[in-house]
Amino acid sequence: MAVTQAEFRKALGCFATGVTVITVDYEGEIHGMTANAFASVSLDPPLVLVCVDQRARTHTHLHVKKRFGVNILSQDQGKISEYYARAVRTHEEAEREAGARFERTPHGTPVLKGALAYLECRLHTAQDAGDHTIFIAHVEDVVVHEGDPLLFFRGDYRDIGPIIG
Ligand SMILES: Cc1cc2nc3c(=O)[nH]c(=O)nc-3n(C[C@H](O)[C@H](O)[C@H](O)COP(=O)(O)O)c2cc1C
Repeated sequence: MAVTQAEFRKALGCFATGVTVITVDYEGEIHGMTANAFASVSLDPPLVLVCVDQRARTHTHLHVKKRFGVNILSQDQGKISEYYARAVRTHEEAEREAGARFERTPHGTPVLKGALAYLECRLHTAQDAGDHTIFIAHVEDVVVHEGDPLLFFRGDYRDIGPIIG
């Protein structure tokens, strides 16, 4: 019994996630990509993973730079998530249309202002898996802020609800 793409997407959409923007400095330009296929891998050493479509520009950038940032979005950053999922985008539009502003780490990696948390990542392993590649990375530094996350569930953005139980 083969699973269709529509069924697969529908099932995976039931798994509520946070939303990240993966940032990379590419030839001095800030490149960002919205991603929710992000997870913790190991505590010691601290490792995370992100799965990137092999057709995405980010796929090439991560292979070349071997360093990237993971920006975990705050609940008021839905426009930024939408913006960095678009096929065509420019840095000027990112600020004008979505309010995305950046600073740089000492490594030059772009950090999205207003994000809930930032992880500075150095590539550990890249493993092709189907039409995506799993990029596993060492987390070299983290910055965490107060606030609530942006959530993604069944194709829509959501706010976090009250604590239950
Ligand atoms: C909520 C959301 C989550 C996404 N998660 C991923 C992901 O985990 N991996 C991925 O490759 N693309 C993901 N995408 C799609 C990319 O953001 C989109 O294809 C983007 O245009 C790729 O940019 P690039 O070609 O500049 O790398 C997601 C899109 C949205 C809206």
